[in-house]
Amino acid sequence: MKKLFIAVILVLALADVARSQYVVDTTLLLSKNDMQWWRDAKFGLFVHYGLYSILGRGEWVMWSEQIDTAEYSKLRDKFTCEKFNATEWVEIAKNAGCKYMVVTARHHDGFCLFDTHFGDYDAVHSAAHRDLIADYVKAAHTAGIRTGIYYSPLDWRYPGYFLPDLYRTNAEEMKKQTYTQVRELLTQYGKVDILWYDGGEDNWLGFGGLMWNLAKGGWYTRGFEEPYSGKFSWEPIRLNTMVRKLQPNIVISQRSGWMGDFETQEVGFKGRPKDDRPWELCTLLGGDAWGWTPKSASQIMSLDSVVQLLVKVVSQDGNLILNVGPKPDGSIEPAEVQRLKEIGNFLSKYGESIYSTRGGMYDGRWGGTTITDRAIYVHILKVPTGRVIELPPISRKVLSATYLYDNGKATFVQSDTGISLTDIADKQNEPDLIIKLVMQ
Ligand code: GLC
Repeated sequence: MKKLFIAVILVLALADVARSQYVVDTTLLLSKNDMQWWRDAKFGLFVHYGLYSILGRGEWVMWSEQIDTAEYSKLRDKFTCEKFNATEWVEIAKNAGCKYMVVTARHHDGFCLFDTHFGDYDAVHSAAHRDLIADYVKAAHTAGIRTGIYYSPLDWRYPGYFLPDLYRTNAEEMKKQTYTQVRELLTQYGKVDILWYDGGEDNWLGFGGLMWNLAKGGWYTRGFEEPYSGKFSWEPIRLNTMVRKLQPNIVISQRSGWMGDFETQEVGFKGRPKDDRPWELCTLLGGDAWGWTPKSASQIMSLDSVVQLLVKVVSQDGNLILNVGPKPDGSIEPAEVQRLKEIGNFLSKYGESIYSTRGGMYDGRWGGTTITDRAIYVHILKVPTGRVIELPPISRKVLSATYLYDNGKATFVQSDTGISLTDIADKQNEPDLIIKLVMQ
């Protein structure tokens, strides 16, 4: 079992390395204005739920254990979702302080949580007999949380995915499925705020395809670092032109093969994108896979580590989306719900230093800063020895410095060379000691 997870993680890690390649076309990008809500939102909840949840060995189980597609599809009959409650999911996200959610409408196994008319491999034709995405979008709209849909063009059921030239007709059928289903998702449920593609990049296309070429030493695999360059194409520009027509303001992820409105980073933080592109870090709140595993109940990030990560990301101008994998019955692990509630408590106290801020600076030794028009928030994750922090100079005058937890005064000296915060208080058991500097 351990070996399996290591293999899965390896696949994901390799895949991530190769993920930076995409078609650059800025004409399809949302305007700064239309991206504003997303940049202000900072924190979201990712939900991975599907047939794989039943097996409890991660959402890649069909691929990593090479389960026969027909055999795997029988899980439909067990997909009862008896405790699935979209309103509850949405409440959990709201109570965590999340401003948006992203739910897997369809993962790489091809099973749809929504009512598709491209075949019947969906929740409506499962033991659940319902359209889970319809419920989710409705609940999100009612609660006023931004609605995101995850969709994987990649579908392991299609041989054409693995060998797109040899099985070209099949690959074209798979592509037709993507266009049809993306259209369905964007027309059947009203407004959708985020389209979170995954697995539509050319690097991924054809993975698993073993080839023969004497010049390359006989049998070889292409490798993720080298994008597929055969005759098949997802035509990501055409796909997203359609998307823009259907939902003009939808925020699109970079994983369709087009650059997308924002960059994604997965699990490990790889640094702030150079060109000030909007970006998001996705990672697991609990467990050892995105889909549910028994470890989702026990292996959960501590509140401190979530806050530390949030500060690290937001002070570098990114968003954080934390994942939960609901149990086979559709309910979210109580221990994860509890942690999310704690994050929500933190954010309800200190939200002004996170939401609608811009990134400032990050220093691994102590923490980072976030900025609004009026203030700089200094997030101290670790009080440095000497209890002094030196910040770079700013042109505006600092009028006051206060600790957010009790409104007590903080001591500071501003000069041409910078701002020194001195005599920094003991952490007072706060996961993040925040000093607010109000500027003139
Ligand atoms: C990955 C995986 C996947 C997960 C996702 C989240 O690349 O393929 O299982 O859904 O990224 O970022």
